[in-house]
Amino acid sequence: MLLVTGGAGFIGSNFVLERLRTTRGPVVNLDKLTYAGNLQNLASVAGDPAHVFVKGDIADVDLVTRLLKAHAPRAVVNFAAESHVDRSILDADEFIQTNVVGTLRLLNAVTAYWRALPSEQQRDFRFLHVSTDEVYGSLSVDDPPFRETTPYAPNSPYAASKAASDHLVRSFHRTHGLPVLTTNCSNNYGPYQFPEKLIPLVIHHALSGRAIPVYGSGANIRDWLHVSDHCDAINVVLESGRPGETYNIGGESEMRNIDLVKTICAILDEKRPRAGGGSYAEQITFVTDRPGHDQRYAIEAEKIRDELNWRPKKSLEAGLRETAAWYLDNSQWIDSVVSGAYRDWVALQYGDRLASA
Ligand code: NAD
Ligand code: DAU
Repeated sequence: MLLVTGGAGFIGSNFVLERLRTTRGPVVNLDKLTYAGNLQNLASVAGDPAHVFVKGDIADVDLVTRLLKAHAPRAVVNFAAESHVDRSILDADEFIQTNVVGTLRLLNAVTAYWRALPSEQQRDFRFLHVSTDEVYGSLSVDDPPFRETTPYAPNSPYAASKAASDHLVRSFHRTHGLPVLTTNCSNNYGPYQFPEKLIPLVIHHALSGRAIPVYGSGANIRDWLHVSDHCDAINVVLESGRPGETYNIGGESEMRNIDLVKTICAILDEKRPRAGGGSYAEQITFVTDRPGHDQRYAIEAEKIRDELNWRPKKSLEAGLRETAAWYLDNSQWIDSVVSGAYRDWVALQYGDRLASA
């Protein structure tokens, strides 16, 4: 039994679906169902007795304490977070509330539960905190990639809130002995990703005939990892990671944003030729840059490779083709998530930028 938080979001729902599909064991899924949480992601396991969904907040200590007592999980995997950098630039309050205060309250409840376990179960218990490479800051093109020992230098309010949560997790290990694991992963993509993030946004905007907004000159570099590989890495760290350690997870697939966007357009040109001819790349529009935009992220994943024998399996080319096919086959999923609230967000985030582009 696992307690998963944020399991109705992008990575969390992929993780829960994979665990249930491969019968790794039952899951209690605690999710607040913010704009980013979507029960449709979990529709295929709605009747599965191995999946217990609970709508609630990781900051609700009473609720978390009740769930821990009732289900006695052998591990907690914490995905729950506010996750979008651009939203944190407009308003960081919720990022502090969930990513910092929420993680602290979750740690308090879990530590009390863990302390009361019999010694053998106490030894085997794990708290796995899912974090990001953004805590390390920004690299230039020639810098060596982030290692687990790279000093933290978060640049966005989102990254700062994740850095704070990582430090809290570390402190609960050092101070209270809680057997924690932290993973710092690069950019994910794949099914069920909310179309505020670059890859699903490009696909959605291309297919709906809108401008495809590229920040600045498009020269920023990200390291892309398919979500199935990330979930696999989390399972490996959960089973074999050493308590108190952090593990970097990367895709071995660095690409400039503009090259990524053009690649997606070319895949769509082939799979769903544009009505009226021409390429979707004609919709690319360079817009005002993101404030504090990190130039490059890159991961040195030697530790997880050497200690735990994990490497990504899916190439970026194959992963992008599959992902484009998934969004083409699941247009009703996109239609349902791009509600009025989503349209309000796009107007707020891109209105002036596109007007001045
Ligand atoms: P997401 O925004 O798609 O999903 C977050 C989920 O958390 C949603 O279902 C939401 O309802 C839930 N949630 C938010 N606040 C909550 C609260 N207070 N209590 C309970 N549930 C709450 O995010 P994602 O992209 O799936 O990211 C999951 C985790 O992985 C985050 O911690 C993120 O920082 C980390 N991460 C993401 C990426 C990426 O590329 N997406 C890469 C590395 C790390
Ligand atoms: O590196 C891991 C992080 O990756 C996670 O911690 C975050 O939760 C996740 O959102 C992601 O952060 P990024 O800011 O890198 O992802 P995003 O998809 O927002 O942007 C990817 C790149 O594309 C970034 O350089 C900004 C650029 N971009 C993004 C959007 C939304 C554009 O050029 N245009 C856009 O419209």
